[in-house]
Amino acid sequence: MRILITAGPTREYIDPVRFISNSSTGFFGYQIASEAVRRGHKVTLISGPTCLIPPKGAKFIPVVSALGMKRAVDKYFPGSDCLIMSAAVADYRPVTASSRKIKKEKAALVLKLVRNPDILSLAAGKKKRQVVIGFALETGGLKNNAKEKLKKKNLDYIIAASLNNKKSPFGDREISVLIMSRTGKTETFLSDKKGLSRIILDKAEVSKYHCGSDII
Ligand code: C5P
Repeated sequence: MRILITAGPTREYIDPVRFISNSSTGFFGYQIASEAVRRGHKVTLISGPTCLIPPKGAKFIPVVSALGMKRAVDKYFPGSDCLIMSAAVADYRPVTASSRKIKKEKAALVLKLVRNPDILSLAAGKKKRQVVIGFALETGGLKNNAKEKLKKKNLDYIIAASLNNKKSPFGDREISVLIMSRTGKTETFLSDKKGLSRIILDKAEVSKYHCGSDII
């Protein structure tokens, strides 16, 4: 399969040195990419800035902002069999980025932000034969929110994790996730990200080879 994977955070620059971003390390997406390479898939990894080394054998496309990630997904999605969108895309970006470093002259500074496009929804809206897998991090209503996002974004699967428990879902540790298929069938897994990568790729592969049928 030709698998397109996105990973990491995006950075939305305010001025040449400051940006809005989030705590994503990119670890999950890179794990999925290396497991996919290991299985012999043709992998394209589109990544926001991280400290990780891309897996050997994957085509690596570094990006910075949500708009940059969207351009890359738009380019590679039509030629892919599967999109796994694990990137933590910033929902908003500054309306304008200052070309000069903003001076701390004022006592208060108001930043005007504008919504970024939902890359996953837009790609899934154009899907033909592709298996599309999205992610969700929730602070409450995990199952209901996952179900709503799966439908709204036209996904085949959603991988949802809760931010409620004390363990952070970021980085390299065991996490609990709920995996829901488009038929609404739901499973919960507790595993490290390597194990979860295998489970996610198993689902993508069977889904693809069985022409999108539900394999949970
Ligand atoms: O709506 P929410 O941000 O919770 O959805 C998360 C999923 O949507 C993730 O798979 C993420 O990569 C994707 N996403 C996106 N573009 C955005 C925001 C989220 O593709 N602007």
